[in-house]
Amino acid sequence: MSGKFYITTPIYYVNDQPHIGHAYTTIAADVLARGQRAAGRDVRFLTGTDEHGIKICQAAARAGLNPGELADRVVVHFRDLWKRLDIRYDDFIRTSQDRHRARVGELVRRLLDRDQIYLGAYDGWYDEGQEEYVTENDARENDYLSPISGRPLVRHSEESYFFRLSRWIEPLAAHIESHPEFIQPASRRNEVISKLKLGVEDLSISRQAAKLMNWGVPMPNDPACSVYVWIDALSNYITALGYPPLGDGQEDLFASYWPADIHLIGKDILWFHAVYWPCLLLALDLPLPVTVFAHGWWLHGGKKMSKSLGNFISREEIEDICRDYSPDYLRYFLLRSVKFGDDGNFSSGQLKEIYNTELANGVGNLLSRTVKMVEKYLSGTIPRPPSAGKSGEEEVIGRARDLIESFPGWMARLEFQSYLGAIVDLETAANRYIEENKPYALAREDPASPRLAEILATCAEAVRIILLYLLPVMPEKAAQGLEMLGVEVPDQGATVYPARWGGYDWSRTVKKGKPLFPRRD
Ligand code: MSP
Repeated sequence: MSGKFYITTPIYYVNDQPHIGHAYTTIAADVLARGQRAAGRDVRFLTGTDEHGIKICQAAARAGLNPGELADRVVVHFRDLWKRLDIRYDDFIRTSQDRHRARVGELVRRLLDRDQIYLGAYDGWYDEGQEEYVTENDARENDYLSPISGRPLVRHSEESYFFRLSRWIEPLAAHIESHPEFIQPASRRNEVISKLKLGVEDLSISRQAAKLMNWGVPMPNDPACSVYVWIDALSNYITALGYPPLGDGQEDLFASYWPADIHLIGKDILWFHAVYWPCLLLALDLPLPVTVFAHGWWLHGGKKMSKSLGNFISREEIEDICRDYSPDYLRYFLLRSVKFGDDGNFSSGQLKEIYNTELANGVGNLLSRTVKMVEKYLSGTIPRPPSAGKSGEEEVIGRARDLIESFPGWMARLEFQSYLGAIVDLETAANRYIEENKPYALAREDPASPRLAEILATCAEAVRIILLYLLPVMPEKAAQGLEMLGVEVPDQGATVYPARWGGYDWSRTVKKGKPLFPRRD
């Protein structure tokens, strides 16, 4: 596999602290980025913060700060959390940065030049949590409450600039039709197709600057208005690549990385990414992203965990999980316990159970018993493993090959649960193989038996492959485990995949270490 891979997360609002929902998207993006890097692709991974808009202004006013001060405080929590969770992004964009603001102004100017924007008036309902106008029908259907936060909709009436969104709906629908990969998963694609059929109106893309404490990007033709926060925010995916070029010394990454290979988002913001964003790109005559993938929600009490409902796993609770288990385990759990794309309930019982079953008793046990036996019976040196065909090893080798062969497909389809499931299957097969072949009994009978060496080499090879394939999800733990096996830990950016059964320079010396995944009771 080669070529470039540009992946983005949503940029998160800085009106409040990060929580598990934000961590979820960002972890998934990091795992994909690491997986693609290790498969030899030139990866660019972008994340950042969305700092303009009414939500930030209101939160700042409540805290007695101006919006810029609030953003400066909160952004630190996002950066710190990403560091704690071992998120390796290439760029972190803040929409308050000059590099972004100047480019948003330029993009809007280009839309004006292309007659894509006109002055009109808006009178209707507004969902402040979502920063979105709501049609009368939708408002009535939801009893004038936000379908996302449950908060009352607010009446808005103002002169506004409109983007000729409706002009682009037909070409967009044709694109969606001919590119099944454009909106994923398929169920979300169908939702968008159905909603498009109901008709789409032009989009209001400006707000009165004074109502936003002049905190926003001014409309280039009318500075009394600010660019609507969603137009401003969506643009980050290209402004971060230095587009449009402004001769300000910013590297021109656009030619190398655009279009995005994946915009990873939650389903709450699919419409913005699957309709507004591609239509803006069409109006600017720019290529569309390859895939917009909308994952599901972490729920609590049947409702989406959110800051507005206060039912979320907070930054502090994330810290507790990192301390009680490890940051790597939080990464593993979030991707393993729920099929990516579906909703899930967060349960601390399940958190402990999966840890003990799959990691403490599973991978961790396989690693520690293998290392111990190699030390005790083979003076610490791992011999070359047998290849397929030998009796007894077929299942372990077959499972390892399945994992290796299926990995690129799982990554391409974001099927993290199946990918981690295949690791667990390999671990289970290898632990069973030990029970069945009883190397400890063999060692008592004949310590020099070649069969004993074969069995232990098979176990060591299975666990090497497990750890290699765990690297994107558990970068720190997998590296520690590989060191115990005497395997040099590959550099970030080194091509690691596909691995090969027996594809290693043998005669490695194991190093005993602390248990990788101590049991939690
Ligand atoms: N600022 C906008 C996005 C602009 S992108 C150009 C925004 N920000 S947000 O802070 O509200 O973050 C939204 C994202 O956080 C969701 O799309 C999703 O990725 C993630 N999640 C927030 N709560 C979540 C859950 N309860 N469950 C899963 N993910 C959720 O919207």
